[in-house]
Amino acid sequence: MGKVMIFDHPLIQHKMSIIRDINTGAKEFRELVNEISTLMAYEVTRDLPLEDAEVETPVGKAKTKVIGGKKLGIVPILRAGLGMVDGMLNLIPAAKVGHIGLYRDPETLKPVEYYCKLPSDIEERDLILLDPMLATGGSAVAGIQFLKDRGAKNIKFMCLLASRVGIDLINKDHPDVDIYAAVVDEKLNDHGYIVPGLGDAGDRLFGTK
Ligand code: PRP
Ligand code: URA
Repeated sequence: MGKVMIFDHPLIQHKMSIIRDINTGAKEFRELVNEISTLMAYEVTRDLPLEDAEVETPVGKAKTKVIGGKKLGIVPILRAGLGMVDGMLNLIPAAKVGHIGLYRDPETLKPVEYYCKLPSDIEERDLILLDPMLATGGSAVAGIQFLKDRGAKNIKFMCLLASRVGIDLINKDHPDVDIYAAVVDEKLNDHGYIVPGLGDAGDRLFGTK
């Protein structure tokens, strides 16, 4: 089964507390999603393989380490996943960015696919799939399957707020995928919203409603 990593860092917990607040407006919400994503990127990339290197300093030669191995790709699930992209790129600016368009049908709660553009060498990349919300898990599971169908082999899923049900569904359908979440809430309501959650992440990011 994939690893589930919940972030107990005080900065992340503090910022999550503010974005949950109904009184936090779109500008601050966007800034905080960006900041939390950067803080999480630090941990999500912790196991990147290093290679030996050597650099010429002003005083001599230094034996150093640089990131080696496979190249990275990040893939936001549209639309709310877009809010996490810049925060990730702050730390891994060379990563390629793919996009998957999925929206959750409000009646069936099932994900509907409407867009896909991925790096052409996706099968050679380590991928981090981004979506702030993991609720029923339908969108994340579909997004992961989408990437696997196109040859991706090494996928991590990163979200801000996860439900227990969503984590269990990913673990069941994609046990090879590690999950990274800032916070876990136990419940979903009848509309598939995380309770207490933070509301509709896409609407709060983009000021729609
Ligand atoms: C939200 C969210 C996830 C999905 C989570 O997207 O960003 O993609 O719902 O729910 P699930 O785990 O039950 O599938 P939404 O469908 O509202 O689209 P949006 O990002 O365009 O707002
Ligand atoms: N999508 C959201 O944006 N919020 C939820 O609570 C569930 C799905």
